Amino acid sequence: MKSPKRVLLRNLNKTFITSENNQVVAVNNIDLDILPGEFVTMLGPSGCGKTTTLRMIAGFEMPTEGEVFIGEEDVASKSPDKRDTAMVFQNYALFPHMNVYDNIAYGLKIQKRPKQEVQERVQRILTMMKMEDFAKRVPAQMSGGQQQRVSLARALVMEPGVLLFDEPLSNLDAKLRIHMRDEIRRIQKTVGITSIYVTHDQEEAMAISDKVVIMNNGNIEQAGSPQEIYQHPVNEFVANFIGRANILDAQIVSVEGNKAVISVYGIHYTVNLQKSYQPKDEVRVVIRPEGVIVGKEDYLVNVAKSIYMGNNHEYAVEFFGKLVEISESNPAGKRIYQTGESMNIGFDEDAIHVL
Ligand SMILES: Nc1ncnc2c1ncn2[C@@H]1O[C@H](COP(=O)(O)OP(=O)(O)O)[C@@H](O)[C@H]1O
Ligand SMILES: [Mg+2]
Repeated sequence: MKSPKRVLLRNLNKTFITSENNQVVAVNNIDLDILPGEFVTMLGPSGCGKTTTLRMIAGFEMPTEGEVFIGEEDVASKSPDKRDTAMVFQNYALFPHMNVYDNIAYGLKIQKRPKQEVQERVQRILTMMKMEDFAKRVPAQMSGGQQQRVSLARALVMEPGVLLFDEPLSNLDAKLRIHMRDEIRRIQKTVGITSIYVTHDQEEAMAISDKVVIMNNGNIEQAGSPQEIYQHPVNEFVANFIGRANILDAQIVSVEGNKAVISVYGIHYTVNLQKSYQPKDEVRVVIRPEGVIVGKEDYLVNVAKSIYMGNNHEYAVEFFGKLVEISESNPAGKRIYQTGESMNIGFDEDAIHVL
């Protein structure tokens, strides 16, 4: 395999003009650095500009403004087949009349590769993906998951510098989706190929990525590792989009370096700051449901919801006019509070993230 390539997006913009002559800013001047061999997911709600960004990288869509670099090259003037990328589509896009072998071999034949090389490369991919037994089948004789594997094999056999995926698992059922995403990650690590993966499924993004890029309204809200995004969201949109978040009002009491004492409804906590604040500033804090400690005697609250889930217990409690969600792990042997009971709670200082 060739060496993986980096991808740089610089001030990339795509503005569509609709048939009614309205302007739609699909991608709003974004910058992004993707390292060689990195698995990067673009995640965001429907219509936020993920597909348009991917299509500009692939060359299916021309930017209104800005640059796309693949490796060291500005690829603006290059057609899709000259960009050293390969795309895996949601709807597989296989040739229905060709068997698996011929589907995978197609791109190499178009490139007029020697017959022996085509055979070797297709065979190698079939073996790596454990698909030798399917080689003679046509798409209609295969399940959706199997067809998606062929679609991935067909992209991989071209040995591109960058692999692009647009919601490749959306047509599969939940269990198969999990199996296939693990498989995609395994193969990506084996091959070491730079991969850009579009999804609207946050769990999928968390499970598969080195880096998650959260998009909203054509903008990048945050790019970081799954841990950074989850533990240190930069704003409420990201906090709410990834996982569940309690977002509460608080005040800065005192500041020392990058630490501060904050007051959350009268109780003081010492926390880390990502931005600079002054005493008396009003702030918002993000606390994940697992960052709430049941039994800590900071607040006395009413239980509004109590659900036993086996591996954890889910509560919602009334907290100064809001509902705070709590996820308590390993409830075996622990006291369980029922709806309508009161209980003590507090927050884990390390789990308080000041926005
Ligand atoms: N060819 C087009 N003409 C006009 N508007 C478009 C076109 N393609 C996409 N859009 C608009 O651009 C925005 C982003 O679309 P898209 O990139 O497909 O989002 P996503 O993949 O995140 O769901 C949407 O508002 C969509 O309606
Ligand atoms: Mg899309």
